[in-house]
Amino acid sequence: MKKIGVIVGSLRQGSYSRMLARAVIESAPAHLRLSQIEIGSLPLYNQDLETATPPAAWTEFRERVIASDAVLFVTPEYNRSMPGALKNALDVGSRPWGHSAWDGKPAAIISITPGALGAMAANNHLRQVLYAVNLAAMAYPEAYIPAAATLFDGSGRLVDAGVRKFLDSFVQAFDAWIGRLAPGG
Ligand SMILES: Cc1cc2nc3c(=O)[nH]c(=O)nc-3n(C[C@H](O)[C@H](O)[C@H](O)COP(=O)(O)O)c2cc1C
Repeated sequence: MKKIGVIVGSLRQGSYSRMLARAVIESAPAHLRLSQIEIGSLPLYNQDLETATPPAAWTEFRERVIASDAVLFVTPEYNRSMPGALKNALDVGSRPWGHSAWDGKPAAIISITPGALGAMAANNHLRQVLYAVNLAAMAYPEAYIPAAATLFDGSGRLVDAGVRKFLDSFVQAFDAWIGRLAPGG
């Protein structure tokens, strides 16, 4: 059993990223336990709060990341980068210095947008930050999902067979990537 924390870059209720994350969570093979780690209530990172008693939401978030064997990011693109809420979560998880929650974990990125370019810029900016916090991002396959508004039904269920098939193969590759990086894997 591998525990995978899923972090969604969008905070809004009707988020396509959230819908896609749910589709991945629900269709993953039984030996992968994916669950979403929420980032919306994390106070903005402020080093002054990094005391013996940091904000409870930070501590809870860090503990959930530490308890995960790997991390999957599903993100939209804001102004050709990742949303600020996601960057904040990465910063929160990276501290206190020397105790980063991310350190050495396997990771993967899926970016999604209603636009045509698959949120490629956000995906690549995020990848750059993952290197900085020593998250081992899977390089291939890359997941840039365009035309998000055409992929889901009225209740937010993924109905596009091509994207479903691609996501299944992406999760399979991520499973193998986690296995390669796991101790003794
Ligand atoms: C502040 C802001 C900036 C945006 N910039 C981009 C962008 O650079 N590229 C893009 O493809 N979409 C951009 N969008 C549109 C988002 O892709 C769209 O709102 C999407 O639905 C957000 O993801 P979500 O559905 O998961 O919340 C932007 C949206 C907002 C609110």
